[in-house]
Amino acid sequence: MIRDGHYRQKLPFRARGHAMLLERIGGVFDDIEQRLETQDVVSVLELGCGYGTVLLELRQRYGGCVVLHGINRRREDGDTDILLRNGVERGLIAFDASPNECLPAITYLDVADGLPFADGTFDLVYSQVAWLYFSNKVGVLREVNRVLCHAGLAKIDADELHPGVPPEYQRLVEIWDDGRLMPFGDYLARFGMSFAAATQGEYLRFGKSAGFGDDLELISEVDLSRLHHHWDGIKCVYRLTR
Ligand SMILES: C[S@@+](CC[C@H](N)C(=O)[O-])C[C@H]1O[C@@H](n2cnc3c(N)ncnc32)[C@H](O)[C@@H]1O
Repeated sequence: MIRDGHYRQKLPFRARGHAMLLERIGGVFDDIEQRLETQDVVSVLELGCGYGTVLLELRQRYGGCVVLHGINRRREDGDTDILLRNGVERGLIAFDASPNECLPAITYLDVADGLPFADGTFDLVYSQVAWLYFSNKVGVLREVNRVLCHAGLAKIDADELHPGVPPEYQRLVEIWDDGRLMPFGDYLARFGMSFAAATQGEYLRFGKSAGFGDDLELISEVDLSRLHHHWDGIKCVYRLTR
């Protein structure tokens, strides 16, 4: 059981809700409602869901019309006890609700090791304030691509430039093509993927796309927090192989 002080201290960083998601990736309500016009159930995955506020808001709003999955790296980042407590405190779940009915399924893993879901499982994959911590970012996007269903949509809060760190480390995905730096956006465009504008910066928006990342080799990763304790994020450097 997480200590109360620790839980409260981390709330601002692990419990952002849909209002913040709206700023970062344009939210997901419209995407879900659009799909519910033609299907009974929408399957949703949040990468780095933290204390699960957005997923709980989706449950409250859509009930059994959404199948909800969240991923966290560690249990202390948000497990079922923490989600329950967060949901009750925010009035998103009733005090006496059955956890099995109201909580999303949570999996604890490093997304860089792959996503434990079958191909084509999700209609919608989204994420806020988690991308910077992922290693092998291209590998993660490949996995998101794989688990998206044919008409699926991914919306990842993943600004190309990460402010607040020296220029050398602002670009968290670096792709080198025969000695020249290829902007990540240019590489994405080859696969019909792109950055889209949000109120706060840009986010990565894409549907299922074949071949993304097949021609990239991961060369190195730098954990910025090891360079300075005020810096955060993993920079991933790739080489185009053909
Ligand atoms: C700063 S918290 C943000 C939580 C929530 N999205 C929010 O905005 O309040 C970062 C989240 O990303 C998750 N995360 C970071 N690195 C991860 C990784 N490599 N694999 C899976 N989850 C990761 C953490 O478990 C944590 O839940």
